[in-house]
Amino acid sequence: MPILYHKGLFILQTDATAYTFGLNQAGLLAHSYWGRRLPYADDYPAPANPGAWGPFNNPAHLTPEEYPGYEDMKYIDPCLKCTFADGVRDVSPRFESFEADAETLRIHLRDEHYPLRVTLHYRLIPQYDLIERWATLTNLGDVPITLERVFSAQWHLPVGDRYRLTHLHGRWFDEMHIERTPLARGLTVLESRRLTSSHHHYPWFALDAGSADEESGAVWFGLLDWSGNWKIAAEVTDYASTRVNIGINDWDFAWQLGAGESFETPPTLAGFSAAGFGAASRALHNYVRDHILPHSDVPHKVFYNSWEATLFDVVFETQAELATRAADLGAEMFMIDDGWYKGRFSQTTGLGDWTPDERKFPGGLERLIKHVNDLGMDFGLWLEPEMVNPDSDLYRAHPDWVIHYPTRERRLGRDALHLNLARADVQDHLIESLDHLLSRYNIRYAKWDMNRNVSEPGWPDAPGEPRELWVRYVQGLYRVWRTLREKHPQVIWQSCSGGGGRTDLAMLRYSDVIWISDNSHAARRLSIQEGFSLMFPAAAMQTWVTDQGAEIPLRFRFHAAMCGMLGIGADIRKWDTQQSDEACTLIAQYKDLRPLIQFGDLYRLRPADQNGFTALQYMSKDQSTGVLFAFCTYIPQHEPSLTLRVRGLRPDHLYTIEGFEGVRSGTAWMNLDLQFGLYGGLGTFGSTIRRIAQVEKKHHV
Ligand code: GLA
Repeated sequence: MPILYHKGLFILQTDATAYTFGLNQAGLLAHSYWGRRLPYADDYPAPANPGAWGPFNNPAHLTPEEYPGYEDMKYIDPCLKCTFADGVRDVSPRFESFEADAETLRIHLRDEHYPLRVTLHYRLIPQYDLIERWATLTNLGDVPITLERVFSAQWHLPVGDRYRLTHLHGRWFDEMHIERTPLARGLTVLESRRLTSSHHHYPWFALDAGSADEESGAVWFGLLDWSGNWKIAAEVTDYASTRVNIGINDWDFAWQLGAGESFETPPTLAGFSAAGFGAASRALHNYVRDHILPHSDVPHKVFYNSWEATLFDVVFETQAELATRAADLGAEMFMIDDGWYKGRFSQTTGLGDWTPDERKFPGGLERLIKHVNDLGMDFGLWLEPEMVNPDSDLYRAHPDWVIHYPTRERRLGRDALHLNLARADVQDHLIESLDHLLSRYNIRYAKWDMNRNVSEPGWPDAPGEPRELWVRYVQGLYRVWRTLREKHPQVIWQSCSGGGGRTDLAMLRYSDVIWISDNSHAARRLSIQEGFSLMFPAAAMQTWVTDQGAEIPLRFRFHAAMCGMLGIGADIRKWDTQQSDEACTLIAQYKDLRPLIQFGDLYRLRPADQNGFTALQYMSKDQSTGVLFAFCTYIPQHEPSLTLRVRGLRPDHLYTIEGFEGVRSGTAWMNLDLQFGLYGGLGTFGSTIRRIAQVEKKHHV
């Protein structure tokens, strides 16, 4: 039974890990263990009972509470902060009761004085070794309570102050850098205040003792299932207790919890890996693929996107020509990006008016879609539902629909204003207009873009607390997208926010793939893809070959993009016969490898920033077949030591690896340094793909 209540301890066990806590003698719900699953219930430690230590440290400050409120002589970072109607800002959630079944546990806490209930939810996902947590706050009284911070959870690590934090940071066109840094004493805050999860930091973390690597060492990791403002606050206290608060950002946040109302936080998902970062990623990949992605079992089509070829100059003739060429190369889907809708001749006009421009597509999109379908391809379209240009019919009709303060300038971002999706009328309008578009045309793929961050976050006619905007906007976004998904289940959605500005778990509930960067320069792209892979599977990673970095061989550019869900965005009208033939061959090869990449297990063999030589491998779930990608971005002359070892083979099964002599056992291959350098033939901007195949025993000599 994965959830046990044993001698006052809640023991949450997944297949290989355990997480425990219980009531201590002071009546506080205190954490006691997170790590490998232990053989017996009695193996797990009891919750701590710290006594006072000197005049400045009382027990509340020293207790590792599962969900600390702001109260008492406690100066650690709390999960919960609120103001009661009488002005009291002290909150003391105490244990009341619990309910449990095999895989879920609900702990009910209640303030000692005020009618506020806090329910802590725990959901075990045993076979993936993951635990999900969130909290619900309920006002049981008859006057409102103002919530000012409501995190989803606090995750506690074994006591120690030598943790290393791994996180991802970046900016537009330069996303998902991996940073590893010792976790300092005090508070380390990662967050977004931009309304989206953002390109700048990502709501994911990993902590290890400093020595974990891809294959070994203890790693604790987690993420937030939320696509809005978020905060991760990792704290090493003055007594070396290490914990991570995670949830909706409390920056500019307030929520009026009316009588009888509840507020539910988004979930956080976390896990423990005893086998390094590789196993941690694979646990997330498997879970996301099996339980989050809407169409994860359908092979993703190789698409062509015309954005970089034609920008806003989108008319039937050029699109039809590009579609014909894309089909010749082997593309299975053709999509028009920006520039197809009413009045969209530049960045400054048209956003918000989601009907085809008559001057570009007389009579609508039918003719082009028919052309694309006749070529055997699906058709896809770009949308940016959350934005509006001041020069649009929508804005002229509803200037009050944007996020703004009446006394302030409405600042433009990429020439657009931000529709207020917290408003039900805005949500209804989007549902209606996009539903109409998706119903009228045979659209099988849609790119949902989002190209600015918020400013002047005002909601003048908000029905209640205007700072609820941050949360109600995201709930509105979910509602619009969920409704469109339900009405049009055949549509594959791609999420883009100027590239990877919305790379978070919540997005993957709505979109099938994420456009991870506008930067498709293959050399930089390899490390962006690696950053993405720490969190999410290749099945959700939209990659593409464009004209960026055209000095790099086409083969290298394709190989880099073939590590994810392949698309092409180059101006293929300019490719000569040799380039087109090469692309044709590579696309055919990709289709053959696609099941491994989309559904297989990823092994990062060499990091993208290591001496210009990087490699990764995908293995089928049954470990019978795999593929290895190796890339050199820069190799000094006479570099003989570009070697790597494969992983993920069955030790006693026999395999061949393309380009290397012999039939060997998995153990032998995994311990052999495969040579790719001077003697292996890979120089600067060289790349290679090698198939790994299991062979029958009889072939072995
Ligand atoms: C954003 C996206 C691009 C493209 C343009 C269109 O920048 O990231 O891929 O769709 O918008 O305007």
